[in-house]
Amino acid sequence: MNIRRLCPADAGAYQSFRLGALHDSPAAFGASFDEEKDYSPSAIEERLALKSDVGAFGAFNDVDTIIGSVALARENLKKLSHKAFIWGVYVAPDYRGQGVSRLLLIEALSLARPVADLRQVNLCVNAENAIAIKLYKSLGFVTFGCVPHVAERMRQHQSHQLKEKNPAEFLRV
Ligand SMILES: CC(C)(COP(=O)(O)OP(=O)(O)OC[C@H]1O[C@@H](n2cnc3c(N)ncnc32)[C@H](O)[C@@H]1OP(=O)(O)O)[C@@H](O)C(=O)NCCC(=O)NCCS
Repeated sequence: MNIRRLCPADAGAYQSFRLGALHDSPAAFGASFDEEKDYSPSAIEERLALKSDVGAFGAFNDVDTIIGSVALARENLKKLSHKAFIWGVYVAPDYRGQGVSRLLLIEALSLARPVADLRQVNLCVNAENAIAIKLYKSLGFVTFGCVPHVAERMRQHQSHQLKEKNPAEFLRV
């Protein structure tokens, strides 16, 4: 298995993988398959543009097929731009339980850590997703809130836990 930063040349493969994730695990994501299925290639390339403070990482199997991904984004508003967030955490079912998402998250956090004005990394996780919650906690994320009825149009109005990476761990010396 190989983990690397995704770049615009990965747009086609990434989009197929992402749509598979949205289709197979709708309760895990705020985004939906229907919303993203018509994204243009250039929109995906823009998502994967190589920037110093945001980006996506992919895990690839022995035949170079993407089997997992995690992305780091940043709040756009200037007053909130000290916060980044993790999104799009997904590992293909056949590759779960092998530490793939942990390695991907470590890469994403490593991208965030040296960014001078970044103080916090947040994420949002379905409160019923015990596996993901355990994973995030083991990486230092702590719960700071809970959003009830987070997404309409799901079968149930699920709650999502808000997690942040402990700022004390994240601050540079
Ligand atoms: C959540 C998810 C990303 C975890 O990916 P993964 O690569 O299988 O996770 P890892 O192998 O890195 O394991 C992470 C932790 O979860 C545990 N875990 C993984 N699969 C598990 C399972 N089926 N049952 C119980 N624990 C499990 C591992 O034991 C590990 O903890 P440990 O290191 O203390 O043993 C994956 O299950 C997934 O893609 N789920 C669907 C989408 C989703 O829920 N995304 C999260 C959105 S917030």
